[in-house]
Amino acid sequence: MLRNQFFGETIIKFINTHSSRLILGIESSCDETAAAVVEGGTKIRSSVVASQMEVHAKYGGVVPELASREHLRAIVPTVRLALEGHTRLDAIAVTQGPGLIGSLLVGITYAKALAMARGIPLIAVNHIEGHIYAVASQNAVELPALALIVSGGHTHLYEVSAEHRYRLLGKTRDDAAGEAFDKVGKLLGFGYPGGPVIDKLAPFGNPDAVKFTTPKMKGNTLDFSFSGIKTAVLRWVEARDMTAEIAARRESGAVSVEGWLTVTPRATLDLLASFQATVIDELLKRAVRAAEEMDASSIIVSGGVACNAGLQAAAKKFRIAWPVYFPTLGLATDNAAMIAAAAFPKLERGEFAGYELSAQPNLILA
Ligand code: KG4
Ligand code: ZN
Repeated sequence: MLRNQFFGETIIKFINTHSSRLILGIESSCDETAAAVVEGGTKIRSSVVASQMEVHAKYGGVVPELASREHLRAIVPTVRLALEGHTRLDAIAVTQGPGLIGSLLVGITYAKALAMARGIPLIAVNHIEGHIYAVASQNAVELPALALIVSGGHTHLYEVSAEHRYRLLGKTRDDAAGEAFDKVGKLLGFGYPGGPVIDKLAPFGNPDAVKFTTPKMKGNTLDFSFSGIKTAVLRWVEARDMTAEIAARRESGAVSVEGWLTVTPRATLDLLASFQATVIDELLKRAVRAAEEMDASSIIVSGGVACNAGLQAAAKKFRIAWPVYFPTLGLATDNAAMIAAAAFPKLERGEFAGYELSAQPNLILA
C-alpha cells in the first residue's frame, strides 16, 4: 500500500540551524581525495575532489596500494585549496570508515595533525552517514526516512528515525550495485568506471530484450544480490562470439556517447539497457517495500549510483507516495562536503574523537 502521510505535517528539517560554525571535512576512504569547508552543517563554502579515476582506469578497478600513494600525493594540495580564504575553523571532520585501510589512514593522519596544530576538535564520521547527509543537509527531509545508499562499495537500506538514529533494514549479500555496473562495464570493454557509461548508453537499447532471473532472497527479503545478474551477463557474452567487438571497444579510446555508439551494436545496447533496468528494479522494489514496512515519510537515495538517470526517472513514480530526494551534482559520488555536514550535529553535541582515532575499514552504521 502506498500512502502519503506528509501532506499537512510539519517538516522536520534534518539540520535546522543558523549556526556559522565552520567544519573542514576530509574524505579519503576509496579513490577520491577530498576536502571541503561547510558552514552550519548545510552551506558548502568549498568542496575539492581530487579523483584518481585515471590511475585506476587501466586496471579496471581500484588498486588499494596505488590509492594510498595517490592520497599521499593529493592530500596537502586538496586541503590547502579547500581552505583558501578560510582562516577560522571550528573543527576538523574525517572519514573513519568503512573503506580501504591505507586510504583512510592518509586522511585520518592528516586530519589529526591539522586539528592538533590548530588546537581545534577532531570529529570522526562514518562514510555511509556522510552519504545520507549529502542529501539530508541540502533538503528539508521528512523523518522517519528510508535511505537507500548505493555506491561501488555499498547497497544498503536504512531507517533514519526522527531522532536521527539508524537501523539497517537490508543490504547486499555479495556485490554492491555500483560494483555490478563496473564489472559488467569492464567485461564488455567499456573501461572503468562502467556505471556512468552504461547509464548513458542504456536509453539506446531495449530494456525488455534480455530477461534476467532475479534472486529470491531467503531470510531477510530486503537484502540484495547482484552477483547472479552479473554472472548472467557473463554467460550471455560467452554464448556469443564477442571477442572482436569487445577488443574493438577497448582499443577505440571512446569517451563520448557518440564514440561508444559507433563501436556498440544493437544487441549489446539491448543487453546494457536490460541489465540497468533489472538493477534499478531490484533497488527500487526493495526500497519501496522497506519504506512501506517502516512507514517512512520520505525516501533518500545517495551514493555514486544515485547519479543514474534511469534510476532517478524510475524513482519519480514513487514521488506521489513519498518525497524522494537525490543528491545534487557533486554530492552523489564521494566528496568531503558530506563528511563535514555529517559532523555538524556531532560538533553541536561535543562528540569529539581523540588523537588515538584509528581507521575502521569495516565500520558499520547500524
Ligand atoms: O559513492 P562512490 O563515488 O564511491 C563509493 O563509495 O563506492 O560511487 C562510485 C560508484 C561506481 O561503482 C560507479 O560506477 C557508480 O558509483 N556510478 C554510477 C553512475 N555514476 C557513478 N552507476 C550507475 N550510473 C551512474 N550514472
Ligand atoms: Zn561512497
